[in-house]
Amino acid sequence: MKRCLVLGGNGFIGSHLAEALVVSGFEVTIFDNREQKRPDIREDSIGYLQGDFLNENDLARALDGTDYVFHFISTTLPGPSLESPVYDIESNVIGTVRLLQQCCKAGVEKIIFPSSGGTVYGEPDTIPVRETDPVRPVHPYAISKVTIEMYLRSFYELHGLDYLILRYANPYGERQMPFGNQGVIPIFLHAIMKGRSPVIYGDGSMVRDYIYISDLVDATIAIVKKGPHERLFNVGSWICSCFFQSSSWRC
Ligand SMILES: NC(=O)c1ccc[n+]([C@@H]2O[C@H](COP(=O)([O-])OP(=O)(O)OC[C@H]3O[C@@H](n4cnc5c(N)ncnc54)[C@H](O)[C@@H]3O)[C@@H](O)[C@H]2O)c1
Repeated sequence: MKRCLVLGGNGFIGSHLAEALVVSGFEVTIFDNREQKRPDIREDSIGYLQGDFLNENDLARALDGTDYVFHFISTTLPGPSLESPVYDIESNVIGTVRLLQQCCKAGVEKIIFPSSGGTVYGEPDTIPVRETDPVRPVHPYAISKVTIEMYLRSFYELHGLDYLILRYANPYGERQMPFGNQGVIPIFLHAIMKGRSPVIYGDGSMVRDYIYISDLVDATIAIVKKGPHERLFNVGSWICSCFFQSSSWRC
């Protein structure tokens, strides 16, 4: 049984992933900076470690004995990263490079990283977008994602740390917070429930790709289980080249 550490496992995607990994037969521990495991997590067998991903001692303790690391912490969001690109580099990029070094030291087998299908391609030339299409990141958040992707490849080539990059479209579903600036579906629903009109930026012609959280999690686990021929996947419903249709997916 592979031992999985889900960094950011108290968050929206990480919490669903942690539960689904247990159902799929993995042993799972969550690492997150919140004091306690969130109470709505359904699987009791999931372990919990409180710690800061930017603290080397906390990470070393958590990585000990881990086979797969799911790195689902991002210290910034697309909007705020515009205001603080230096913090984005310092925390996300440098923090992740330190994490990769520690994974090598701890003998971790594989690291799984959620990149951003919605931002790394910039304005795509064709739809659906393919993994082989050029990346043209504009936002600091997207530049950090692409930089981390490159470090993942580098650590694999130089140190043998295996990796998987999943460029997710826009996930939606239970536990997604309606108060931030990410996740238009809960933000719109919350506004409508409060009797306010949702605010649409632009002229309304903008197109986005959405994926339901359990489809995203099922696709993630299917790719992890399938093993590595490929190490880079778009995961979405329509615009991305990896379609997820109810219980079957194809790439
Ligand atoms: N939600 C999306 O639309 C989306 C789309 C594509 C990719 N992603 C990526 O998926 C990952 C998870 O996204 P999410 O929406 O679940 O985020 P989230 O904010 O819901 O969860 C992040 C978790 O990380 C924890 N965390 C933050 N900083 C930490 C630190 N320094 N130390 C320890 N824990 C810390 C938080 O407490 C939180 O529980 C991120 O890398 C994000 O960029 C998200």
